Parts: sequence; C-alpha cells; structure tokens
Amino acid sequence: MNKNLIFILLFAVAGLTGCEPSSTGFSLPAGNVVNGEKVFLTMQCLECHTMEGFDQPESAVERATASVALGGEVKRIKNYAELVTSIINPSHQIAEGYELDVIQYEGQSIMPSYNDALTVTQLIDLVTFLESRYELEPYEPTLYSPYR
Ligand code: HEC
Repeated sequence: MNKNLIFILLFAVAGLTGCEPSSTGFSLPAGNVVNGEKVFLTMQCLECHTMEGFDQPESAVERATASVALGGEVKRIKNYAELVTSIINPSHQIAEGYELDVIQYEGQSIMPSYNDALTVTQLIDLVTFLESRYELEPYEPTLYSPYR
C-alpha cells in the first residue's frame, strides 16, 4: 500500500471516531418552552446558574458557588446536541471563561447528574427552553483603515 493511502485511511478512521459533539443524525422531537421553564425551576438549576429575567434563590446567593450564566447574548449559539450533552454529561466539555476550581472538582464538573431525575420529555422541554433563551450577538465587522 502506498504511504499516502495509509494517511488517508488513518484520517478517515480518526474522522469516524472523533468525539467532537455533532448533531448529525441526532434529532429531538419538538419540545415545549413553557414546560421546559417549569423543569428549569423545579430542578433548581438557578442554585448554580444565572439567567436574565430570573432571580437566584437566597440559598445560592449565600453559598456563592458557581454562577454560570445560561442564555443571553453569545457569539455562537450552542446547538441542542451540545445543550443535551452539557446536561446529561456535564464533564464532557467544561464551560469556558470561569475559574476552574469554582466549576470543577477533581477534574469533574460540579454540576450534579439529573439523568435519573428527568424524564426524556422533561429533558427535551428543558433543552427547548434553554435554546430559546440564547441570542446571537450582532456581527461586528472589523474596521480597517484604508491603505494610503
Ligand atoms: C451544583 C451546581 C449546578 C447545578 C445545580 C446545575 N448546574 Fe449546570 N453547570 C454547573 C457548572 C459549575 C457548570 C460549568 C461547568 C460545566 O461546563 O460543566 C455548568 C454548566 C451547565 C451548562 C453548560 C453551560 C456552558 O456555557 O457551557 C448548561 C447548559 C447547564 N449547566 C444547565 C443546567 C441545568 C438545565 C440545570 C438544572 C437541571 C443545571 N445546569 C444545574 C453547575 C450546576
């Protein structure tokens, strides 16, 4: 076998087994935003998260643990595969822009697992609700001064 062909095969295999989150072939049925908000509140996600339009409970403010912002203006909206992953496997990819020792412990996210607490319908509604709270930041073109 020639060398190039071996490289091409290696890349193909790497591509197939890569663990980048991807939505290809992953499709959730439509969820319900109003029900998702209820799940968000009953599961007490605000203990560790902030979201515009919601107050954090006293207990969270007192403990002053992580306050990871959900929703709001972002440069790139997380797709629902990423949102589902951050809920059912929080340590897969740790949120960016926070002090690591605040949001993780021994390499694991401090976010608890809800996998035995949520029904699939609740998870879908929750993700639909979260998705609806993100807004894309308006694109700002870089201004270059014209050549002289
Ligand atoms: C005990 C604290 C805690 C609770 C309760 C909690 N989370 Fe988290 N969550 C975190 C921390 C810390 C992170 C950042 C580290 C990480 O990415 O796992 C996070 C990350 C996330 C992210 C990814 C955010 C990003 O920008 O990457 C989502 C989405 C999320 N949580 C949703 C939820 C939802 C929905 C609930 C309620 C069902 C919840 N969390 C409850 C601590 C918590």
